[in-house]
Amino acid sequence: MADLNNIRNFSIIAHIDHGKSTLADRFLELTGTVPQNKMKEQFLDMMDLEREKGITIKMQPVRMSYTFRPEADQSLAGNSAPYTLNLIDTPGHVDFSYEVSRSMAAVEGAILLVDATKGIQAQTLANLDLARKQNITIIPVINKIDSPLAKVEETKLELADLLKISQEDILSISAKKGMGVKELLETVIRKIPPPLQSDVNKPLRALIFDSKYDSFKGVFVYVKIVDGTVKVDDKIFLMQAEAEGKVKEVGFLKPEMTPCQELKAGEIGYIATGVKDIDKVRVGETITGFEFSLPNAPVKVEPLHGYKEVSPMVFASVYPENPDDFENLKFSLSKLKLNDASFIFELEKKEGLGRGFRCGFLGSLHAEIICERLFREFGLKLVISTPSVVYKIIKNDDKELLIFSPSDWPESTTIKETDEPWVMLEVMTPSNYVGQVFEVLETLEGRQITSDYIGKDKVILKYEVPLRKIIAGFYDSLKGATQGYASMNYALMGYRKGDLVKLDILVAGAKEDVFTKIVSGKEAEREGRKIILKLKEIMPPQLFAVSLQAVISGKIIARENISSRGKDVIAPLYGGDYSRKKKLLEKQKKGKKELKAKGQVRIPSDVYLKIFRA
Ligand code: GTP
Repeated sequence: MADLNNIRNFSIIAHIDHGKSTLADRFLELTGTVPQNKMKEQFLDMMDLEREKGITIKMQPVRMSYTFRPEADQSLAGNSAPYTLNLIDTPGHVDFSYEVSRSMAAVEGAILLVDATKGIQAQTLANLDLARKQNITIIPVINKIDSPLAKVEETKLELADLLKISQEDILSISAKKGMGVKELLETVIRKIPPPLQSDVNKPLRALIFDSKYDSFKGVFVYVKIVDGTVKVDDKIFLMQAEAEGKVKEVGFLKPEMTPCQELKAGEIGYIATGVKDIDKVRVGETITGFEFSLPNAPVKVEPLHGYKEVSPMVFASVYPENPDDFENLKFSLSKLKLNDASFIFELEKKEGLGRGFRCGFLGSLHAEIICERLFREFGLKLVISTPSVVYKIIKNDDKELLIFSPSDWPESTTIKETDEPWVMLEVMTPSNYVGQVFEVLETLEGRQITSDYIGKDKVILKYEVPLRKIIAGFYDSLKGATQGYASMNYALMGYRKGDLVKLDILVAGAKEDVFTKIVSGKEAEREGRKIILKLKEIMPPQLFAVSLQAVISGKIIARENISSRGKDVIAPLYGGDYSRKKKLLEKQKKGKKELKAKGQVRIPSDVYLKIFRA
């Protein structure tokens, strides 16, 4: 086990796609953590979904060992090699920023990676801000210097300007080609301090920064051991939840789980907690020894700071397609919550849909990922509503109502005022794309506040906009208009009055609550038409013609038909048995009539997901 002086805990932080996972790959190779024959690109993106989408969703810790010759650096002389390096790879998308912020509390330093072909982007700033709040050491690095599109000097200037440092203090690397990676790892050892504030002789205090459920060993937590030690069979205590457990296993991540004898102060690893009730385990919680929870404990243990609770930005209702799956859905959500602390869920009941959950997410991509994980990891078929922000309604009797689900919107005649959340949106773009960015921003019903230059040719535009406008496809439009160069970030400001109406969607005459959406009066007609056309495109053919209607306050504003594509019921019959054919056709006609009368149109789960994305 490593001496505290030989431990380095650090993260890699960056905007999306600036090369964090690729750099982590090079570190894994350089330190021999993953054998060459097992190596694959973006190794730490361990979920199938991450690999398919090419984005990191989860932070991923990994422990590496590196032998650094002390004689090569006088400042480190005296510390015997090897060094234990605990790296946490983090996501770069704004919807997963809670992962980044939690990882920061477990490390003493971070590599701030900037793509030389893109320069500083919105999440570079946001993640730098998180690191600074945590007061950790920052190592600025420019990546992708091998690319023909790299603007190394310009990016260096930008970054030096942002951090108020000299350009010589910025390292330049190519994570893809491995250039400068060894020097960077050695700089990490030199510049990031060891976790010297930790004390192995004090009572156990471990900060939970992540967790997951294992069907054999129960709840695993990923921890930074701030003080003390923990080993198998130790009795532990979760200070906030006041829950106890008996340790079944401790270990570290390589990145697969690797059991060890003991975890001690300064280290990052995992504990199989033996805690029975999975709802008791929360990120930000402090684990201590059970003996310190007793009234006659020899010393009083102070819990660690923990984390700020996250506030969901977007809500969607999730129902099991088969009502019998309700309990399964409930348990699956609890298990998923262990692995994704930034989403919340609450029981919800709706006529026609039965029992389900109202879920809160950090953004639409986050919502989509959770729904896909429910389907893939738990095999659940779901009915999912269109994501929505939380609206506020003042009724004629001055009572205030919060509307989490658009289908709960009251009769328009009972409403005095409608309010919606606004955000301060920051868009960062190279100046040659400002025109295109303005065109996209104009669709937001917002108001420009400022525009400022960063460096020579990068502009930050600040806009106040309704949150509703940016949860649906805005990010993609921005990327599309600027060949991926513009980026964004946003923060909640508060509620403002809006001209809002409820848009209902009827399929075969029956209102489909999950497609109901709140839109501004001005855009209602266009929006209604858009949804109807999308539904027409993605709904599978039905046995009878199906009408699709968009309705506002009882008035149809858009309408389409899906024409019938009847099954060829007489195909299996050979020859000319006319009476039998007629009988089958009659039967089909009757069946269609019955289905139509009941308005029974089967909408498969993927239609909800597609509408959701649209
Ligand atoms: P997220 O986790 O989704 O935020 O992305 P990331 O920051 O982990 O980036 P990732 O490592 O997935 O790399 C994004 C893309 O950049 C991939 O196509 C990489 O192959 C490419 N890339 C990464 N490093 C380099 C580099 O040094 N040079 C070049 N030319 N491409 C690179």
